[in-house]
Amino acid sequence: MRLLCLLAGSLAVAACHPRPEILPRQPGEPSLITRDVSSYAEPDQVRVRHVSLDLRVDFAAKVLTGTATLELDWRDPSAYAVVLDTRDLTIAQVEAQLDAVWQPAPFELAAADPVFGAKLTITPRDKPTKLRITYATSPEASGLQWMAPELTLGKGQGFMFSQSQAIHARSWVPLQDTPSVRFTYDAHITTPPDAMALMSASNDPAATRSGDYRFDMPQAIPSYLLAIAVGDLVFRPLSARAGVWAEPAMIERAASEFADTEKMITTAEQLYGPYRWGRYDILVLPPSFPFGGMENPRLTFATPTVVVGDRSLVSLVAHELAHSWSGNLVTNATWSDVWLNEGFTTYVENRIVEALYGRDFAEMENVIGQRGLRDELEHDVKPADQVLALPPLRGRDPDEALSGIAYVKGQWFLFFLEERFGRAIFDDFLRRWFDAHAFTSVDSVEFERFLKAELLDKVPGKVTAEEVRVWLHDQGIPSLARPATSRVFNAIDRAAAEWASGVLPTAALGARSWGTHQWVRFFLQLPPTLPAAQLAELDAVFHLTGTANPELAERWYPLTIRSGYLAARPAMKEFLKTVGRRKVIKPVYEALAKSPEGLTFARSVFEEARPGYHPITSAMVRDILAAPAAP
Ligand code: BES
Ligand code: ZN
Repeated sequence: MRLLCLLAGSLAVAACHPRPEILPRQPGEPSLITRDVSSYAEPDQVRVRHVSLDLRVDFAAKVLTGTATLELDWRDPSAYAVVLDTRDLTIAQVEAQLDAVWQPAPFELAAADPVFGAKLTITPRDKPTKLRITYATSPEASGLQWMAPELTLGKGQGFMFSQSQAIHARSWVPLQDTPSVRFTYDAHITTPPDAMALMSASNDPAATRSGDYRFDMPQAIPSYLLAIAVGDLVFRPLSARAGVWAEPAMIERAASEFADTEKMITTAEQLYGPYRWGRYDILVLPPSFPFGGMENPRLTFATPTVVVGDRSLVSLVAHELAHSWSGNLVTNATWSDVWLNEGFTTYVENRIVEALYGRDFAEMENVIGQRGLRDELEHDVKPADQVLALPPLRGRDPDEALSGIAYVKGQWFLFFLEERFGRAIFDDFLRRWFDAHAFTSVDSVEFERFLKAELLDKVPGKVTAEEVRVWLHDQGIPSLARPATSRVFNAIDRAAAEWASGVLPTAALGARSWGTHQWVRFFLQLPPTLPAAQLAELDAVFHLTGTANPELAERWYPLTIRSGYLAARPAMKEFLKTVGRRKVIKPVYEALAKSPEGLTFARSVFEEARPGYHPITSAMVRDILAAPAAP
């Protein structure tokens, strides 16, 4: 087969590559790595080791133009093609460097697949060590958002940012877009002279604006951690190695909200070893950022919606910081094993939060998280996706398979192990897991092997192989799982029940002293609908309509929709028009889509909101509103 392919030459490239499910083990790699079906790349043939970007940021055309130079490590003697991932890229030319001379290299861009984009096959002669691709992105690039000045806080200049996870890096850089490949990178970025550019790399807190920026990322990262942001951004230090970047109008509030960041870093270090990435800065994005946070190395991206003034939502920082160990240091090799990123991180996040804010706080978060998982399993996650170790996501968008299973069930599994072995032993085990796999990509098979060898066999009689199998491979929440409990919530549950049934007057709720978590619990314990007059009373006392707290908004607005409390509609519309964070607007749009009247309202809001939404938020809302309203 291989010989035939060689003879046939580059014309037959696409058809000729066998797609083995298992890559051969490479020296220094801990285990056999399952092939990543979310990428066209063939890293067993050749691997990208370093990427050099030279890109111009063009706000008028909403495109990045320039070159990506890839340094190659040829693995297979019979390899002759470099297969890259792209999405909506215009490839102007590809050159290969041979004997220090750049020469054009033949390439073929296949027809685009709606989920995976277009496979780029380059067939240079003589296995060059470098390829240079000259290209431009599309204004619709799925991994970039371009914002007009009106959509920013300062309204003085445009803003652009990337969101590469899971498979959107390919929409702004042609590369092997798979978490099983790690590379170092450097970048030369040119922007309008008054704009500040930042990347998931070395960012100089003292940088002056020049429109000409250079970045270096000496630690090898997977493609989904490639990140860039450009806009009117200023810096405030939080400690010697941590700080915040934000638009000027947000910077003071953000710096005060995230004041505990250094404590979080030292807490994580005490548990799992040194923070290995140099600086840890947080970039506060415009409210259209589609996620809560994104763990871009050295530069966490965060939604401004967690800046609520009372630091009640800073577990988001603990979460993204935790990824500096689970995810960025030890990375899921494919998106089937995303629980190795998100489950471990949700566990570590809770350990940091407990150390800083106490057990009650950490328990409340766990109770809310586990309740969220149960609700999600009832409605939104098909049984086959309710396992931690997912089968290959062939043909599927990896984001579609991602659910609370990876986050909460993953975390729950680690709580289970912690409880059985005790904290001292489990903490030591986890630290060794990170150390032994630092800067590599891993899968569930490797975790199972390491767990058995390093914990189950060394400390026998605590956990059986069968119990591990149930956690990793059975659907749903195992009967082994001990649910989290919170004594704080007992009082809230009583208040919710008594208030809902009319026994407890609104004035006697005692909610003045509630924090975000108590309010969330209160909403979760209410019946699905209440008399509109009763909601009006609650609203009059506590001003829930118009709340800036996303955790309240995402529960309050759906309750008002289900209960026909229409007074909330204008503020709800404003909320949907400013916030693009998918998790918080999803339940609101879903609740609206359940009635014909709500659907009409939602469609008109979406039309107005859309110019300010990120492409992936727009895609989500479009899908919700496309479904016909239930009768
Ligand atoms: N890495 C994720 C965000 C992500 C996951 C982006 C999958 C694209 C695909 C990030 O660490 C995360 O989990 N963010 C959460 C917040 C966190 C506190 C649970 C979010 O954005 O909701
Ligand atoms: Zn995460």
